[in-house]
Amino acid sequence: MNLDRDALRASLSSALPEGSFICRLDEVPAVGGHVVRLSSGGIEVSLVVLRQHETVRCFLNRCPHLGSELARQDRHLYLEPGVSIECNVHYAVFRWADGVCVRGDCQGESLAGVPVTVAADGIRVGVWPRDANDAGVLKRSQ
Ligand code: FES
Repeated sequence: MNLDRDALRASLSSALPEGSFICRLDEVPAVGGHVVRLSSGGIEVSLVVLRQHETVRCFLNRCPHLGSELARQDRHLYLEPGVSIECNVHYAVFRWADGVCVRGDCQGESLAGVPVTVAADGIRVGVWPRDANDAGVLKRSQ
């Protein structure tokens, strides 16, 4: 069990309860990513939303290597859509599908996933999985 990861997930799910609005779907390129900053209960949360048409994934915009943002702005998102996202700082590469680091200084660690659902008005936080290992970042139009 990874206590840091569990604590991070607990604070994330507390800051971003199910149903929280993240952004409009059209703010995210049909194939690409978007940096979103939210403020909830005095806590600032930076997220990266990844999209391939109707499939949307979301991760905390925090590299597990040193805790820096992967990218501060959309134009700094280094993506290979459907394949990977790269950290701006030391260029660790994370798998698009599940956020696991496949190359770099934090290989084997992973981005913290945020479950999402696509609602009529945009992308919202989905149901947080009970199991901390079930990083489910699922996503699909409803
Ligand atoms: S902070 Fe992301 S790879 Fe070092």
